[in-house]
Amino acid sequence: MYADRVLSGMRPTGSLHLGHYHGVLKNWIKLQHEYECLFFVADWHALTTQYDNPRGIEEATWQMVIDWLAAGVDPSKATLFIQSQVIEHAELHLLLSMMTPLGWLERVPTYKDQQEKLTEKDLSTYGFLGYPLLQSADILIYRANQVPVGEDQVPHIEFSREIARRFNHLYGKEPGYEERAEAAVKKLGGKKSKLYQELRTRYQQAGDDAALDSARALLGETQNLSLGDKERLYGYLEGGGKMILTEPDALLTVASRMPGLDGQKMSKSYHNTISLREDPDQVGKKIRTMPTDPARGRRTDPGDPDKCPVWQLHEVYSGDDLRAWVRQGCTSAGIGCLECKQPVIEAMLKELAPIQERARAYTEEPDVVKNIIADGCEKARDLARETMRDVREAMGLNYG
Ligand code: TRP
Ligand code: SF4
Repeated sequence: MYADRVLSGMRPTGSLHLGHYHGVLKNWIKLQHEYECLFFVADWHALTTQYDNPRGIEEATWQMVIDWLAAGVDPSKATLFIQSQVIEHAELHLLLSMMTPLGWLERVPTYKDQQEKLTEKDLSTYGFLGYPLLQSADILIYRANQVPVGEDQVPHIEFSREIARRFNHLYGKEPGYEERAEAAVKKLGGKKSKLYQELRTRYQQAGDDAALDSARALLGETQNLSLGDKERLYGYLEGGGKMILTEPDALLTVASRMPGLDGQKMSKSYHNTISLREDPDQVGKKIRTMPTDPARGRRTDPGDPDKCPVWQLHEVYSGDDLRAWVRQGCTSAGIGCLECKQPVIEAMLKELAPIQERARAYTEEPDVVKNIIADGCEKARDLARETMRDVREAMGLNYG
């Protein structure tokens, strides 16, 4: 139960581009081999800013899922689902909202930022303010402890940790908690209970994080405890009550920033993208018309790759030899810009070809895509329900 579980979500933006591929999807594809992974379409999140025009969200969801699959996200390894189809997220969001101080939400940095940026929209809504809490519910409902996000989302993960902590603190203390925890320590058995006690003391008295990690690992390996006792002992380590919700960590990856056609970060709002399903001719055309170092007005003028967006693409796509050829040829005017761009075009087309082929196949078989998502939603629901049972019980809402 406390093994690593990865969860990440993406707003439905329709068909994706190379920025999504290099920035997010390649990472997901790697993670799916290393962890239990859950990836979902955050369609309710889209509504927090797009409540006035919800019509396109469904189509954008299907197109985005096709691109996930085409890029190599593997439904036999990762669970793929749609947020709004697992309504338990909404129940947890509601329950958490009862104990979330308004000030915490108002202080989330994206709140003011986004409101200032998206001035054409009225974002003084309840849903928009609560959006980080909805995200917390997304994460906590799966007890996901690893959340791959970009730098900008780190405050949301920190916020989720605080919510989990507050929840556990408020509702994790059952009657007779200390006695039950002590009894559970005994159940660990001679050597293990002694080690647990030692590690717990080291953590609580000396703040030794390594001791905390070791104690958690010890519990992770333990097989003779009930789930309830295990939870008690996880919580007891930190002095609190039972750990009902797990505090997540941000799983920061070396951000591979994909440059767009103008050298800025690739993004739809900059109109500098190459879509994953871009027509190959169009790919060539877009690269060939990219701006280069302005110093190279004529073919005979030498240039500086560091002032050229094409160079940034070589950094993504080219090996050492090719890069050396570019630097040498550019600074000596030995090669022309079109010549320099050709290997980038080829590498991109090579990367896109299998993605586009799979996208075509999935587009022709919408039922396959729907079934993958239906399966994923079902698996997600099972996990979400498990957590909600514990949450309801902890809050005294188990009328059964
Ligand atoms: N907020 C994220 C974004 O806008 C999407 C998201 C929603 C998410 N819930 C999440 C990401 C949970 C990670 C975990 O990009
Ligand atoms: Fe840019 Fe290459 Fe032209 Fe140099 S040769 S300016 S790196 S496109």
